Amino acid sequence: MDIVTTKKELQDKINAWKSEGRVIGFVPTMGALHEGHLSLVKTAGEQSDVVVVSIFVNPTQFNNPDDLKTYPRDLDKDVEMLEKYNVELIFAPTVKEMYPDEDKRQFDFGNLDKVMEGKFRPGHFNGVAQVVSKLFDYVKPDKAFFGEKDFQQLAIIRKLVRDLNMSVEVVGCPIVREPDGLAMSSRNQLLTPEMRKNAPVIAKTLSESLNFAPGKTVKETVDFVVKTINDTGNLEAEYFEIVDGDTLQAVNNWDDSDYIVGCIAVFAGKVRLIDNVTYK
Ligand code: PAJ
Repeated sequence: MDIVTTKKELQDKINAWKSEGRVIGFVPTMGALHEGHLSLVKTAGEQSDVVVVSIFVNPTQFNNPDDLKTYPRDLDKDVEMLEKYNVELIFAPTVKEMYPDEDKRQFDFGNLDKVMEGKFRPGHFNGVAQVVSKLFDYVKPDKAFFGEKDFQQLAIIRKLVRDLNMSVEVVGCPIVREPDGLAMSSRNQLLTPEMRKNAPVIAKTLSESLNFAPGKTVKETVDFVVKTINDTGNLEAEYFEIVDGDTLQAVNNWDDSDYIVGCIAVFAGKVRLIDNVTYK
């Protein structure tokens, strides 16, 4: 496993693999790796000849400077975790390497980023698109692996790839959870013990809402989820929306779509957690 920090070193490796016709699988991350990330790496290993993992805390996707400052970073530990997997290359660039000049590109995702994460974190998905489009350009992956935990991000990446006509297959991978149900996240390590104790209520409530929903309206289901979470100490729902899984637009009735997903963002103190559940 090699670790490179410059575009030039990365591209030398990529070009060699490309000339040998090897299928390149790519897993972009911001580090502070956990089993969720590793499941993507494992799937990438099963579906490609070489696996490239990027570790880069991308400043342009943070709309909150405090969040960027406190975002966990531990490259040595990340490298140690990846050593157990079949990873050929880690790309861990500096901010200057990724952004030698300010990136002024503005992406248009139509209605996809006007809701949920896009609405509450203005500019977030533009930053994600800036870094992912650069990374795709450098790594030239045949396949790229993203988690369904970031449900809206996955939809945005699929649109980005379509709009830019990129020849990369985007593979969505299921959410990996802690034994108590909490969706794994790098931010979980920022929770106090008290918050950590209550945080599984998020996943538990989403799961309970599957049993609650039949016979109830969409609005009643939304109210049930928000109330249950807000009644739990330390937790405050920022939004819970029940949406069409493709367009991400809110549905009013269960009959409005064949693919319906509930997406939630919850504050535990200053730590922001997201999760989602599929109704059908
Ligand atoms: P990061 O939060 O590090 O996540 C990297 C990838 O791991 C994303 O595709 C995310 O959906 C996936 N992931 C995180 N937690 C997961 C879990 N519990 N189960 C399954 N997959 C999980 O997402 C980003 O970084 C950045 O926005 C990035 C795409 C790297 C661009 O900077």
